[in-house]
Amino acid sequence: MLGRGPDYEDLTVALWSHRDPAAFMGLVHYATLAANSHNAQAWRFRQTAEGVAILPDMGRALPAADSDHHHLYASLGCAAENLMLAAGATGRSSAMEFATDGDGRIEIALGQTGSRDVLFDAILERQCTRSDYDGRPVPGSDLGAMQAAARVPGCEVVLIEDRVKIEQILELVLAANTAQVSDPAFVAELKSWLRFNARAAIETGDGLYSGCSGSPSLPTFLGRIMFGAFFKPDAENDRYARQVRSSSGIAVIVSEHDDRAHWVQAGRGYQRFALKAAALGIRHAHVNQPVEVPSVRRELQSLLGLGDRRPDLVLRFGHAEPMPRSLRRPVRTVIAA
Ligand SMILES: Cc1cc2nc3c(=O)[nH]c(=O)nc-3n(C[C@H](O)[C@H](O)[C@H](O)COP(=O)(O)O)c2cc1C
Repeated sequence: MLGRGPDYEDLTVALWSHRDPAAFMGLVHYATLAANSHNAQAWRFRQTAEGVAILPDMGRALPAADSDHHHLYASLGCAAENLMLAAGATGRSSAMEFATDGDGRIEIALGQTGSRDVLFDAILERQCTRSDYDGRPVPGSDLGAMQAAARVPGCEVVLIEDRVKIEQILELVLAANTAQVSDPAFVAELKSWLRFNARAAIETGDGLYSGCSGSPSLPTFLGRIMFGAFFKPDAENDRYARQVRSSSGIAVIVSEHDDRAHWVQAGRGYQRFALKAAALGIRHAHVNQPVEVPSVRRELQSLLGLGDRRPDLVLRFGHAEPMPRSLRRPVRTVIAA
């Protein structure tokens, strides 16, 4: 078995550190530290006369897990939020718009009247923590602060702490997970984004490194064989049931309308929720299966009484030790001409 090795640790320490947010490359650095689906980093950044444009990189889309590109645009929203917080750290304000022509893009105009937000300082602390949690409840005052931090126009966070309701949501997680794990296209796509050891993760600077989920490090050929043998609905469902039951509660990001502009807003709201949680020492991870399978998403919508509003992302939160950090590609590789 290959160890995680000092290189990976060194690289993550160097990556998850401050840059100059006054510089364009510094702003992009903070943007790329945002959460994003499968760590595919389907984004590119362009300096504009007004500020920065964030463009989708459709070559990194996930046709099986994210056929409508919902998660891709939500991930762009996460990056936009980090970028605007970084601009604020140097006293700049930002106004964001989603341009709908073509593949769409986020246009951020930078101004002169911003201020530093405490969420900026949490950018380096945030991570998705995919381990079992310790079952301790999160205090109501912290939950209220996370919910308030996540408020952006067009979307809100619904919190679920009632154990009966959590079990009902867990049932939807398991139903959708069974459908996904049984779908060869979904499994093949996921496998292509898995990095079974540190060397593979370092080589690409993207994807889902096994160490971040607490899985053993394996040579790539063996990892692929083991994944084929062990990635089965029952085993995965047991893991998700344990993880959800060890969590303090569930948060669902919900947006008013189901279009790309609102998916971006949902990403922004989620990123702010995650940053506030990190600032308070609270962990979170995604259990998005119910929003990724359309028939199950409708069940979740009705369980939560959302009417026409779209449930965008499903998160569990609670307390746990940190896990190894994820990697990113170098900033220079995500700059668009
Ligand atoms: C829109 C979106 C969807 C995501 N979906 C999942 C998911 O279904 N399961 C999961 O474990 N993580 C999910 N994530 C988390 C990413 O995998 C994670 O952000 C990425 O691997 C980088 O790791 P980090 O956030 O710890 O830096 C999602 C993140 C975003 C922004």
